Parts: sequence; structure tokens; C-alpha cells
Amino acid sequence: MLFSEDKISEIIEKNDIVDVISEYMALKRSGRNYMALCPFHSEKTPSFSVSPSKQIFNCFGCGVGGNVITFVQKIERIEFVEAVKMLAERAGIQLKEEKDPRRLEIAKLKGVLYRVNTEAARFFHNNLNIETKALEYLERRGLSDTIIKRFGLGYAPNEWHGLMDHMKSKGFDAELLFKAGLTVRSRDGKSFYDKFRNRIIFPIIDLKGNVIAFGGRVIDDSKPKYLNSPDTPVFNKGYNIYGLNFVKKVQNLENIIVVEGYMDAIALHQYEVQNAVASLGTAFTENQAKLLKRFSNEIIISYDSDLAGQAATLKGLSILEKEGCVVKVLSLPSGKDPDEYIRKEGIDAFRDRIKKSVSLIEYQIENLKRGLDINNIQDRIKFTKGFSEIMKDVLSNVEVDAYIRKYSGIMKVSEEALYSELNRLRKKNKIGKNKHNILNGIKAVPELKKGEITAEIYLFNICIYYFKKVKNIFEVLEPTDFSNDIHIRIAEIIQKAYKEDKAITAGEVIAFFDNDDEKSKVAEIFSHKLPDSDVNELINASLERIKQSKLDRTIQKMTEKMNEMYHAGKKEEANKIFVEIKELQKKKR
Ligand code: UTP
Ligand code: MN
Repeated sequence: MLFSEDKISEIIEKNDIVDVISEYMALKRSGRNYMALCPFHSEKTPSFSVSPSKQIFNCFGCGVGGNVITFVQKIERIEFVEAVKMLAERAGIQLKEEKDPRRLEIAKLKGVLYRVNTEAARFFHNNLNIETKALEYLERRGLSDTIIKRFGLGYAPNEWHGLMDHMKSKGFDAELLFKAGLTVRSRDGKSFYDKFRNRIIFPIIDLKGNVIAFGGRVIDDSKPKYLNSPDTPVFNKGYNIYGLNFVKKVQNLENIIVVEGYMDAIALHQYEVQNAVASLGTAFTENQAKLLKRFSNEIIISYDSDLAGQAATLKGLSILEKEGCVVKVLSLPSGKDPDEYIRKEGIDAFRDRIKKSVSLIEYQIENLKRGLDINNIQDRIKFTKGFSEIMKDVLSNVEVDAYIRKYSGIMKVSEEALYSELNRLRKKNKIGKNKHNILNGIKAVPELKKGEITAEIYLFNICIYYFKKVKNIFEVLEPTDFSNDIHIRIAEIIQKAYKEDKAITAGEVIAFFDNDDEKSKVAEIFSHKLPDSDVNELINASLERIKQSKLDRTIQKMTEKMNEMYHAGKKEEANKIFVEIKELQKKKR
């Protein structure tokens, strides 16, 4: 979106820089200017200065500076356009008339839903003064009045129309409450009733401070333990993170701690761990990862220590790493979530755990180590093998050396034994050729890295040029193992010819295809040049590549299934699938 110069000037004029910056931090008058500790770098004496006359800010320490728009961009980690929009909204400036009637309607609806949610949150919160058992519950769980207020916690009465009646008195109709996800339609479709009943309410607030959804927890043993708002025009589960609205205000944020539950995040904030957010039990998404990364590059995950929790941790880790975050794992003793841990062991013990949080590799090694007895030879062998499995994909030699040194000492296994097992494994997997030098080996067998499609194309061409090799290929693969329709059909044709003991040419394969489009695709496949390597090695590498892709697909499907189970509260089933996945992963190179 382009803004006219006039609009930009108007926005700068109507958003006084001192006022705006004061909403984020305390400014101290110093002569004609204001001074503060710089929010963009770590410092002990203030070098951040704001000039009301020039309407600019400037840090002598780290060199950042600019106008009110720049400041909002930097502090909110948003783009120029976003910052302009935010400031326009703040000053009540209309940026442009929305013309599209559908979008206009959605924008309007969203505005109304924010108001509905805000009023509902107010209602729930006020109920704490009316229903003593709700407040008692929260107090029993150790929450202070201050933190209850800060997070806007509330209570939904044990009635079918408690919220509806209240909202009606405020002029909001039933249909609207339904759109906000606050009511449920009765079975005959003719009436509505409150979705949240007899539950503690956790409002979910977005980065702009809007109430967008609610979570509700039972105060007894009924099921389900937590209910959450459905997706609505203002709420999309995978796009939000609980508590990020508070965390984004923290200056000089070093890292963000991601926990699973509402109560975990709140407990941490109560003890002034201000960088805690909750992923809300939903499977961690790419969008959530992107959102977190806007605020900090370093993410610490602290999920349940049961098996499914570990799996969720690993999944979250890989998604975050893909977004380029540095990810660490904070482990707690089994069966404890952060909330329970803090209440029992105290916040200092937790802070100590934060300090001791470890990288993904170390997390895996620690998992492996658990339950093994270093005085038992068999266990030490188990460790050596498992350790090598974990380390075999680590590409940095410096890292490999460091881990080997560390765990050789801890596990009483000689460094030589660890190196030699790792080399053996890498060699077996064709990752290494040189026994003594791990680094040399890693670059070998480039075919393994190429895609599945290429691997299949190599195999087809080999079948054409080396009739004797067809046997080696079709003894291992079935046509259905190939990745797409055309490949499957080519494989069928070659396999059929092979069974009839006939060599087949590329031209003959092409002749089996009727339409021109397919013909030219097949021709292209057979015009591929084979790389200049040993044909047997090429076959092995290609077969391996295809096998791995198949394995990947199976693992991915099972992981999805596991996450589904886990988030549906079926932790036992999830754990079972997790064990199976672990088995499959052992087959992975
Ligand atoms: P937990 O079952 O670990 O609960 O679910 P918790 O956070 O420790 O809650 P308390 O301490 O018993 O109050 C972790 C998160 O998973 C989501 C919720 O967001 C919860 O905070 N969840 C859990 C659901 O959405 N539905 C459920 O039925 C259970
Ligand atoms: Mn808990």
C-alpha cells in the first residue's frame, strides 16, 4: 500500500513521539530532551534520547534513530506499512476508504466482535466478585490478585444463559455471540446457549490488545478439562500465542520461553519471568514460529516431560529451527509442568533450569542417557550406539569434538570408541569413506542428497542402458513405490518387460503413452544424462533415496496422527505412536 506524503505527515504530526514512546517505556526529562535506557541494546546508563522539538529519537550507544514511525517499526518489529497503519489507528486517521463491500463488512464485523469479546471478558472477570468458589479456586492455585487482574481471568457462571442475558442487556444479540464463538447452537438449530459454563476463563489477547478468544477450565474433574473458542473472524488458533501481548513489551528481550498451558505461562509471569508464552496445546505451527521470531531469535521450549510431550517438543523444535531460531530445551523432572515445578521447588530452582537449558542435540543425548547405568558395560555400549546415531548428522566437527569430549567423560567411554562407532555408522550409511577423518566423509555420495524424482529418473535410465541391472532394482522396488503417476507407469512397463526377459528401449516405453503431453514428459525423463559415477553405487544411492523418502512420508503421517491424538487428550495412544515413530526413525539415515 502506498501512502501519500500528506498522509504520512499527518500521521507524524498527530502522534507525538514523546507520547508514543512513553507508552512503551519511562522517559526522563533532561533539559530540552528526554532520556532513557535504550530498548534496542543492553546498557546500564541511558544513552537513548528523544527530542520533542525535532520529533526524533536517537541512541548514542547503538546508533539507532529516526522518527515516530521508525520507532514503532523497531519496537514492534513490524514493517513500515504496518507501523503507519498502527499509528493512523492510534490517531484516528482514516488511511483510505475501503471500497470492496465484502471486505468492508468483514472489517465491520471484526470491530463488533472485538467489542463483544471485551464486554464478555469484563463480565467473566466481574463474576469473580460474585462467585466465591471461582476466586477460591484461583487462590488455591497460588495466583495473586494482581496476576488475576493482569491476565483478566474470570469465571463463566454455571448457567445456560448467564453470558447471553448479560450481553443482551448490553445490546448484543444472540447471533453475534454465536459468531464470536461464545455460544453454541442447540441441536434443533432454533436457540443458543452459553459455550462456557462453570469454568475459569482465560481471555486470549492479540498483539494489538484486542480480546480475540477465550479458554475455559473446569474447576472440578469434569471433561474436557479445557474448552477453547472455535476459530472466528478474529481468531485463528495456529496464528496466536498466549501471553505474547505481554512479552512484546519487555525491553531487551533475551529469549522467549514457550510452555504448553495457560497456567504455566501465568505462573511464570507471577514470578516475574516476563518472557513466558504458551502455545496452548495446539500443534505448534509455522505461523507461530514466525510470530515468535519477530520478538526473539532464541526460544526455550519447556513442555511436559512425558513421551508425547517430548515428541511435541521435538516437533516444535524442528519448526522453530526451520524459521531460523536458536532453540533450546528446558527439562523438568518427569510428571511436572512449569506451574507445578515453580509452586513446589520455587522460582530460583526454575531460573536455574533456564540456565541449564540445552540444545536439541544435547536434549536427545540426555534422553538417551536417562535410565542407563554407567557402571554397566551393556549400557555403555547402548549409549555409544545411540550417541553415534544422534551425532551422525551433525556437520560441524567442532561440535562433534565438543560433544565427544563431554560425554566420553560423563559416560566413561573412551573418545576413541565414540569416534570409531560414529565413523563406522557414517561409513555404513555411505556418509564416510575415510575411517579416520569424519569431515572427509561427509561430502561423499552426493546422490543421497538429490531428490527422490532424480533418483527415480536415474533408475529408469539405468534400466534402459544396463539391462542386467533391472533385476537389482525391481527386486527391491515395486512400481507403486515411485513418487508420481507417470513414474509409476514407466516402472510398470519396465517391470513387465523384465518379467518377460526383454530389454526395452526408451522409444518403446514412450510408445506406451497416448497423449502428447505425457509422451514429451517421458522423453524428457529418458534424455537425462547419468552422472559419471559407478553404476552400482548410483543404484544403491538412488534406491536408498527412494526408501528414505517413503520412510519420511510414513513418519510424517504418523507424526500428524500422533499430534492429533495428543491434542485430543489421548496421550496414551499418542505415546504408542511415538514409540513406533522412534522405531522407524532408527531406520533413517
Ligand atoms: P494440560 O493438560 O497439561 O493442562 O494441557 P495444564 O496447562 O497443566 O492445566 P492445569 O495446570 O491442569 O490447569 C496443556 C494445555 O493444553 C490445552 C490447554 O491450552 C492447556 O493449557 N488443552 C488441554 C486443551 O486445549 N484441552 C484439553 O482438554 C486439555
Ligand atoms: Mn498444569
